[in-house]
Amino acid sequence: MSFRIQPTPPSRPNRCQLFGPASNTKLPPKMATSAADVINLDLEDSVSPDDKPQARKLAIEAIGDIDWGNKTLSVRINGLDTPYWYRDVVDIVEQAGERIDMIMIPKVGCAEDIYAVDALISSIEMAKGRKKKIALEVIIESAAGIAHVEEIAAASPRLQAMSLGAADYAASMGMQTTGIGGTQEDYYMLREGQKYWSDPWHWAQTAIVAACRTHGLLPVDGPFGDFSDPEGYRAQALRSATLGMVGKWAIHPNQIAVANEVFTPPEHKVTEAKEILAAMEEATRSGAGAVVYKGRLVDIASIKQAEVIVKQAELIAANA
Ligand code: COA
Ligand code: MG
Repeated sequence: MSFRIQPTPPSRPNRCQLFGPASNTKLPPKMATSAADVINLDLEDSVSPDDKPQARKLAIEAIGDIDWGNKTLSVRINGLDTPYWYRDVVDIVEQAGERIDMIMIPKVGCAEDIYAVDALISSIEMAKGRKKKIALEVIIESAAGIAHVEEIAAASPRLQAMSLGAADYAASMGMQTTGIGGTQEDYYMLREGQKYWSDPWHWAQTAIVAACRTHGLLPVDGPFGDFSDPEGYRAQALRSATLGMVGKWAIHPNQIAVANEVFTPPEHKVTEAKEILAAMEEATRSGAGAVVYKGRLVDIASIKQAEVIVKQAELIAANA
């Protein structure tokens, strides 16, 4: 490791983030009793322009009136290129109770976007004497966002998480697709007449994971639009988990169980990780730097890999 130590990300489960438009009063009570770790009441793209004022009011009421248990509760505000975002922040931070945990900023393009929202929140928190500091999470969903991903990750001590928003990202990049995440029909390699599909989201995902891990944030995979395709959702979630992301959004309740399952390390992986740690402990006692475990090399680096899995499992179990 470098002299620069990698910070620890927030110690809370973030396997599934369930979204719902704040304007739809039917949804928040159902979201509160769901199995999602994080709830996002949306003021942005699932709310039509005419409904924005009413959605703010309903979000404030839902935050105060509903028992959210131990869920992380977040509100997605409108983007900084709209006439809505400042009113979203002012009304939510002035009027919502202490139960709110986070504000999500969509379509961030540079560190100053976060600075602007942070400055507004900081001032309102002081004016209102709020006790709990509101955290921030952002969506990387534009060319500018991914180009400036590292400065964005470093922008504020309030920042806790960063998601990839596949649909807006695809549009901003000029990608020829209308799907929200997942396999893209035309993104394939050809060998002997046979198609092999590749992953067009891979680069953006790994860039986000690297920025998040460097600055102690949680990297999260965003929406998968086709909620009638659980296997497609699972495949996307498995790729994200393999790359180091901690969770994925759900836009429909039938996606929650799959996210929770995929982002909870399975028992056999936890057992194996514990066995590797035990084998390395034994090796250290006998003065060896590396040992053979089930026919393969394990060494000091394996300890860190195994600890990632064991810590994830412990965190989830502690919050169950
Ligand atoms: N959270 C909690 N419950 C939800 C839900 C959500 N996001 N979406 C649907 N449900 C509920 C429905 O109310 C319904 O409940 P019921 O059985 O008690 O009547 C049940 O789940 C089945 O819903 P279904 O009929 O399949 O879907 P729908 O037509 O009611 O809604 C959507 C479909 C896509 C409009 C809705 O899921 C939705 O608004 N999703 C969130 C969109 C969003 O937030 N987008 C922004 C982030 S990308
Ligand atoms: Mg978006």
